[in-house]
Amino acid sequence: MTRRIGILTGGGDAPGLNAVIRAFTKYAVRHHKWEVVGIEDSFNGLFDSPRRLMPMTLQSCQGLLHRGGTCLGTTNRGDPFAFPQPDGTRRDVSEELAKAVRDEGIEGLVCIGGDGTQAISLRLMRERGIPVVGVPKTIDNDLSATDYTFGFLSAVDVATEALDRLHTTAESHERVMFLEVMGRDAGHIALEAGIAGGADIILVPEIPYDPDRVAAKIRRRQTHGRLFSIVVVAEGAVPLSAAHLSHDERKARLKNGGGAAAIAMAQLEGRVDAEMRSCVLGHLQRGGSPVAFDRILATRFGVAAADLVAANRWGEMVRLKDGHVDGVPIEEAIRVYRLVDVDGELVRCARATGIEFGG
Ligand code: F6P
Repeated sequence: MTRRIGILTGGGDAPGLNAVIRAFTKYAVRHHKWEVVGIEDSFNGLFDSPRRLMPMTLQSCQGLLHRGGTCLGTTNRGDPFAFPQPDGTRRDVSEELAKAVRDEGIEGLVCIGGDGTQAISLRLMRERGIPVVGVPKTIDNDLSATDYTFGFLSAVDVATEALDRLHTTAESHERVMFLEVMGRDAGHIALEAGIAGGADIILVPEIPYDPDRVAAKIRRRQTHGRLFSIVVVAEGAVPLSAAHLSHDERKARLKNGGGAAAIAMAQLEGRVDAEMRSCVLGHLQRGGSPVAFDRILATRFGVAAADLVAANRWGEMVRLKDGHVDGVPIEEAIRVYRLVDVDGELVRCARATGIEFGG
């Protein structure tokens, strides 16, 4: 009997999702002769009536490799164990999900998503008997099990280009320019884009910053005739005065304060003698075509996911480790969150070239 495998994308999108779907489908259909069915909008397509399923064929893969976003759609509001109801409450619909999977003759699901989606998938396998294989996705590159997630370097590229552009205007106007990039908990995008884009100051969540240190760096540059400065701010970066706050308190503070770059700029008000402007890059970092590295990694992940299915290694997630793609138990893969190593080589390299972190 032909094996029928479901594939879905969950959580925020990332450049490279389509490349995974394409690689998985091509290999599954051409080599294994499986049927591949795409589930729309994460798990949600299985709940609706009629169900929203997309047969994935060699034809439907055409033109997908370089296309950003996800042809299957995605959401980060579809946890089947706490599914949002119209009246604002939440309900466990995981049993209905399992029934829909069985009704459709789907043997198992390939779930492409971040740690949230992977944790849900694992629960679905353990508690509802739905076999799953995971493919990691996050532009934040904060999953410790894999050296890289696709989408990360595409985001770093966008942020780097933004820094290049800010440089010319900052220099012309002798201003201090703040660029806020994504990274609520981990500052990898800020760190790598900051190094690539020649930032003078990088503020990351892992290093609460002292505004006096940041101001001193800007003043030192002014003394040397460098009358402009570029500051990259991860959206989760906080000043020392907020370092004691919990994760949720930090989030609320950012919301009320107008974002991390705006807060950092306000902190420097009166401490430096220069005009300042801030800019939030936002979802521009997640949209558009993946860079070559991400296309290749996504393709490797798609093929590796099919290999795991072929070997019935359900419950595992693909990952890149020391240059090789292999499988790792999902449970192990999501256990440790990867923050910027504040004593690591990359931070040291940034400091060695004169970049200030404010702490
Ligand atoms: O995937 C994580 C992330 O990129 C964060 O860095 C950012 O805070 C978040 O997504 C934004 O997500 P949303 O699309 O829900 O605004």
